[in-house]
Amino acid sequence: MQAASFFEWLTTSSWANAMNGPEWAFPVVESLHFIGFAFSIGTIAIIDLRLLGLAMRDHTAAELAADLNRWTLAGFALMLITGPLMFSADAVRYHVNPSFQFKMICLLVAFLFHFTIHRKVTQAEISPFAAKLAGGLSLALWTAVIAGGRMIAFV
Ligand code: HEM
Repeated sequence: MQAASFFEWLTTSSWANAMNGPEWAFPVVESLHFIGFAFSIGTIAIIDLRLLGLAMRDHTAAELAADLNRWTLAGFALMLITGPLMFSADAVRYHVNPSFQFKMICLLVAFLFHFTIHRKVTQAEISPFAAKLAGGLSLALWTAVIAGGRMIAFV
């Protein structure tokens, strides 16, 4: 199946019909998308501010990560359910949207960074410079994902 026909098929799927049915469906799912990003990126930002030495200095990054990790994963789960649902509602338009494409590339890099380097950095004893670098890169990557997501509707 060619990519174009896959996105056409997705736009006529039962998920897309549900998303394009009642007026409240898309805004409710988009609100859940927002809540998911608040939980996932909000908890990551707390750890990154600690890595940057700007907040929560009475806790180690490892302690914060241990406490917040389940909320980060819950937020990611909500994003990975609501995002594709919204995408299916108008896949033909979204998949050619440059801001959506930018966001998906940043999202892939941000996920890879989060589950490899960022996870290692929060667990290990590392130099303050390396901690700041990791915290700053993480914040920059997730900011790019959010900006890409926000700009989808304007591009
Ligand atoms: C952690 C991962 C993610 C984050 C932080 C994120 C963040 C955002 C943000 C901030 C918006 C703008 C919401 C608004 O302006 O109301 C957005 C919109 C959107 N996201 Fe995500 N997103 C994520 C994952 C995904 C995934 C995996 C998909 C689909 C495969 C997706 C599809 C969309 C779509 C289609 C919109 C545009 C809705 C519209 O037309 O306004 N997102 N996202």
